[in-house]
Amino acid sequence: MRYSIALIGSALVGVSNAHYVFGRLILDGKWTDTFEYVREIAPEPVRGSPEDWGMPYPLERPDHPDMRCGRNASLPFAPVKTATVNAGDRVGFGIGGGSWPGDKGATMFHAGPAFAWLSKAPTNDLQTYAGDGDWFKILSVTGRTEQSMDYSLPENEKYYDEVDSVWGTLYLDSYNFTIPKTTPPGHYLLRYEHIRPGGGGVQWYVNCAHVEIVNTNTDKIGTPGPMAKIPGVYTKGQPDLWFSSYDPDFNIDEYKGPEPEVWEG
Ligand SMILES: *[C@@H]1O[C@H](CO)[C@@H](O)[C@H](O)[C@H]1NC(C)=O
Ligand SMILES: *[C@@H]1O[C@H](CO)[C@@H](O)[C@H](O)[C@H]1NC(C)=O
Repeated sequence: MRYSIALIGSALVGVSNAHYVFGRLILDGKWTDTFEYVREIAPEPVRGSPEDWGMPYPLERPDHPDMRCGRNASLPFAPVKTATVNAGDRVGFGIGGGSWPGDKGATMFHAGPAFAWLSKAPTNDLQTYAGDGDWFKILSVTGRTEQSMDYSLPENEKYYDEVDSVWGTLYLDSYNFTIPKTTPPGHYLLRYEHIRPGGGGVQWYVNCAHVEIVNTNTDKIGTPGPMAKIPGVYTKGQPDLWFSSYDPDFNIDEYKGPEPEVWEG
């Protein structure tokens, strides 16, 4: 039974969801509405209605085009706005868009890495861009960062666990990061990805926002890379994803996460 660990963990903690959708872009320090700037995704048909497991159900096939922006979202099927951001601005993704019934506040409940990516549309029309072009990585979170949960606070003590608490995004409901300062201007898909590694199978939680990146600093425009295609970037069985992130012998200091490396800009 694949969910037994998540279900037991959830019952113990009492407030967390094992599945999540990053439906809210954080823009100018504020949480925007669910699917306002993020492409809506379709529920997983077998798992039921959007309110149920359906919407937040993860992706499990690294070779599927849904890996780009979530289920049925390689092209938008519902209205979505484009956010204007400056290169160098801080943005983020927050959880919103379906959660487990009875859940009081969904978080990145699984121990695993998070990444953010950009892919420039060939034209200024993001509505018709399927994300089949080149992608580069702008964020990698493996171990703890200054945004990680502070387990020394009394309200967070109950979440502490010797094994899982080494992961930087564990139990967070959002994550913020900077668009590299030298990013070339243009219309981009901004993709946030949280991964639950696993020996028997891997889960991906993936969503994309529409952003227009403005960069008026014309003598400081960089060349992003290395580039990757999605799908294509992950292969079934690759050792840096197909392992148990709940293994007490796992050493996060030696874990770099999958390729490609982050473009610093
Ligand atoms: C990200 O930024 C938003 C808006 O300022 C904030 O509400 C949220 O707590 C931040 N997330 C983290 C993990 O610090
Ligand atoms: C999938 O997307 C297509 C358009 O790209 C849309 O017509 C269809 O309703 C969507 N299906 C679901 C289940 O959301």
